[in-house]
Amino acid sequence: MTTISIINGPNLNLLGEREPTIYGSLSLEDLNKEIIAKFPQIEIRTFQSNIEGELIDAIQDARKWASGIVINAGAYSHSSHAIHDAIKGVKVPCIEVHLSNVHARESFRHHSAILPACVGLISGFGKYSYFLAIEYFLASASKSA
Ligand code: DQA
Repeated sequence: MTTISIINGPNLNLLGEREPTIYGSLSLEDLNKEIIAKFPQIEIRTFQSNIEGELIDAIQDARKWASGIVINAGAYSHSSHAIHDAIKGVKVPCIEVHLSNVHARESFRHHSAILPACVGLISGFGKYSYFLAIEYFLASASKSA
């Protein structure tokens, strides 16, 4: 069975009220509800923290039950070698996602510290960034079945 851990990092708890022209009007709670409703056939657990160490704990926890991780590490994506190492350490395939197109924004967002540890990056599709990442895990699971 496909089991997905969705991990959201700093400031994503403010989705809906934080810079809605960039990140949209959906709250994190509603985003998580939409994702779970769209993929009823798989187990999805969601987690958010503003604290780097708690994101690392969530990544480590995923190795006990998840077949894939979808992570929006927020600004930590651009700087956190510790999150990079955590992803490398768990051997659970991980996809980096962003709501906004980070490459169309400030230059500090163009670099990802975590991408080398990930399968790939999906950025700029709003909530669909998460949907697309899960679609990949579903497609790759059915291919290997
Ligand atoms: C973000 C992009 C990051 O650069 C930013 O720091 C965020 C949100 C996104 O989803 O577009 O917090 O990860």
